[in-house]
Parts: sequence; C-alpha cells; structure tokens
Amino acid sequence: MANQTNDKTKALLGWVDARFPLTKMWNEHLAQYYAPKNFNFWYYFGSLALLVLVIQIVSGIFLTMNYKPDGNLNAYHLPAAFTAVEYIMRDVSGGWVIRYMHSTGASFFFIVVYLHMFRGLIYGSYKKPRELVWVFGSLIFLALMAEAFMGYLLPWGQMSFWGAQVIINLFAAIPVIGPDLSTWIRGDFNVSDVTLNRFFALHVIAVPLVLIGLVVAHVIALHEVGSNNPDGVEIKKLKDENGVPLDGIPFHPYYTVKDILGVVVFLIVFCAVMFFAPEGGGYFLEAPNFDAANPLKTPAHIAPVWYFTPFYAILRAIPSFLGTQVWGVIGMGAAVVLIALLPWLDKGEVKSIRYRGPIFKIAVVVFVISFIGLGILGALVATDTRTLVARILSVVYFSFFLGMPFYTKLDKDRPIPERVTMSTAKQKVMFFIYAAITLVGSYLFAVNI
Ligand code: HEM
Repeated sequence: MANQTNDKTKALLGWVDARFPLTKMWNEHLAQYYAPKNFNFWYYFGSLALLVLVIQIVSGIFLTMNYKPDGNLNAYHLPAAFTAVEYIMRDVSGGWVIRYMHSTGASFFFIVVYLHMFRGLIYGSYKKPRELVWVFGSLIFLALMAEAFMGYLLPWGQMSFWGAQVIINLFAAIPVIGPDLSTWIRGDFNVSDVTLNRFFALHVIAVPLVLIGLVVAHVIALHEVGSNNPDGVEIKKLKDENGVPLDGIPFHPYYTVKDILGVVVFLIVFCAVMFFAPEGGGYFLEAPNFDAANPLKTPAHIAPVWYFTPFYAILRAIPSFLGTQVWGVIGMGAAVVLIALLPWLDKGEVKSIRYRGPIFKIAVVVFVISFIGLGILGALVATDTRTLVARILSVVYFSFFLGMPFYTKLDKDRPIPERVTMSTAKQKVMFFIYAAITLVGSYLFAVNI
C-alpha cells in the first residue's frame, strides 16, 4: 500500500517535472544549495525577514477586509478611516489580534532588517561577488521605508496626519519643482482624503508587489554566487570530486531545521510583545495616534516612528543654508544612498570583521553608537545641546562611509584561513565585549542627553 502511494507520488512529480522545473528548483535552492557550515546567530535574520514579510501580507489582507480609506467625517463626527480601525479593534472577531499583529510586525520588520544589514556589514557580505545582493537589499530597505510610511497614514490618527504632512512638505524644499512636487504627491494642497486613498492603493498593492519582486531578485542573486559566512571565506574555492564545496552543507535539511529554531524563538518574543505590550512603550504605536486626525490641531511634538528617527535626526541636524532647507533633505537621502554604496567604498582585502584590522573594528563600534544616538535624538524634542550632539553624530555617520575608502586601505588586516572555522570561545567573548561597549556607550549617551 505504502509502495503504491510512493509510486503514485513519484509519477505525479514526474508529470509535474516534465512541465515545470519543481525538483530542479527544490534542488537548486534547497536540497543541493550548499551553504557554509559555520553560519551563526546572525544568519537567522534573512529567513526571519521572509517570515515577517509573510506575516505582514497575510495580516494586511485581513485588515483590508474591514478597513476603509476614508478621511471624511462620519455620523459620529469622526473620520471614517479612524473609526474603521476602532471597529476592527472592538467589533470584528479577532480583529484586535490581526491589527496588533500588523502593527507589531511593522516594528519587528525593521528590527530584523537592521540586524540583517548589520550582519552584512560586519562580515563584508556586500563585497565582491555579492554587490548586487546588497544593492537589491538596499532597494528593499527603501521600499520598506516607503511601505511603512504610507501604512502609518492609514489609521488617520494625529501622528499619521502630521507625520505625513511634515515628510511630504520636505519635498517642497527642493528648488524649482519642490512645491509642485509636494502638491502632486498629496494630490491636494494639504494631506487629505485624496492622499489617504492613494497611500492606501500604494500600501496594499503597489509597494508590496515591488517588495516581493525585490526579495525574489535578492535571493536569486545570492543563490547565484552563494552565501558568505562569518569567516568571509569563499567556500566555492575548495570543492570535492563531485563539485560540492568542502565547507558546504545542503541548506535542506540542515539550515531549514536551524531556521525553524530561529522562527520559534522569534515567535515567542513577537507574541510576547503582540499580546502583552503591543504599544511597544509608545514607540510601536504612538500615543497621539489614538486621537483622530485633526488638521486644525498640531500635536505638541511630531516625531516619526522609531525606525525612521536616525534619518530624521540627520535631517533636523543640517541647518538651512543659502536660504534653503534642501540640505537637510539631501543629507537624509545621502544617509540612505551611502548604505547602498558600501561595496564600492570598502577597499579592505578581507571580508569578515574577524580578520579586519583595529581601525575597521573601532569604526563599526563608533558607527553603531552614532546610529543609535541619532535614533534616540530623532525621537526627542530638539534643544540646542541635542542639535549640537546630532550634528556631531551626523558627522560621525558620514565619516564612517566617506572615510571608508581611506581607512580600510590603511588598516592592518590579518590573513584569512583557507577553510572556515567554527566560532571559538575567544570570538564569542570578543563579540560580547564589543556588544557591551556599544550598548553601554549608547546607554550613557541616552541618559546624558
Ligand atoms: C524584506 C527584507 C529582506 C528579506 C526578506 C531578505 C532575505 C534574505 C535571505 C533569505 C537571505 C539568505 C539568508 C541569510 O543570509 O540570512 C539574505 C541574505 C542577504 N541579505 Fe537580505 N533580505 C532582506 C533585506 C535586506 C537588506 C535591507 C539588505 C542590505 C541592505 C540585505 C542584504 C543581504 C546580504 C548582503 C545577504 C547575504 C549575506 C551573506 O551571505 O552573508 N537584505 N537576505
């Protein structure tokens, strides 16, 4: 009986394979995709980013079933979009859990993606031959920021409205075309029902399509060249007689099982936040957004959601010059573009931080402190001292990138091993020391600001 079922499955698979490359794709991307055997903690975040993408799409579809992108006042004298979210939270069966899943998912997306990008930075995963993997990743990051920004308008709360107003007004600073451009983006002279409708269309279909396409391109590009690893050693250089890399193991079952562990731990943390602290201390869902949008009442303090605050701090730090504020906008844009240019800025011979010289190691610690510091400052009301500190940290941020072609050349890198190593106790201790310095540095910064 079992044999018969087996034969039937094989026959069905043969039928499909003759018409669609199912087994070929399974082998190329999973069963015969040889990944380095020394993946560590940092390699969980790619698959976790995929998981969060799925969570966002599925929860988003269910939200769309009950949400209305309508900025007009209803019978309760409240904007219909705002009450639609309240309706989902209070009346739709399971609506609250779907909404919290989506709002928590947005913040977790950025947590996971920032950690994923940081992994790329410390292991030099953007270097040859993975430049396109990184460029696709950077485009994903841009699309993700656009997606989150437009999604944030939809609950039509005070922060939704005023956040959008501030950010769209930035475009008005661009010389000549600026004012027309910002009106064109809004579809109106102010953020209005028209803006809400177009942001809804872009958020639920246009940008997700782009995101999915970019993620597919990202993974295809990666699988073309093969994964990097914590040692930054190219495993394809040494192969056995069957052409299998000596330091490679099949992605399936080894890393599918490892990634499932990551998924379980991630879901425990995700559920803990979703069920017990969905507001994320006021950072995931901000207090002013529990009030309906009111174009006649500006909130006392407008700040973007936490994942935008490092870039927002750079924007605010750059003073207006020659009578225009466009420099801040350019600075903010450059801060993102420079990330995409890393493969060409880094002139170091070795990939992994394990074998880099001291300058790069110090530069990374200082860069992370500046990024977290800017993130903290961007969430706070600007004062003179804070603006000064934000200026200094912006200089540090840009120096990290613009100085890279020079200091990576000067640095005294160590020779890399021929084969990958499994991480040693010393490396683990060193990692905790770096992490402790970075976190203590950021904490001291936060309490003193
Ligand atoms: C929706 C967002 C993203 C998804 C779903 C995603 C997915 C993945 C997956 C599944 C992998 C392979 C597993 C792994 O190495 O962890 C990967 C690798 C990689 N990703 Fe992403 N990614 C995303 C965003 C980004 C961003 C924003 C960047 C950088 C700007 C980036 C840069 C990289 C690099 C350099 C690798 C190769 C790492 C290595 O081999 O060491 N990714 N990504």
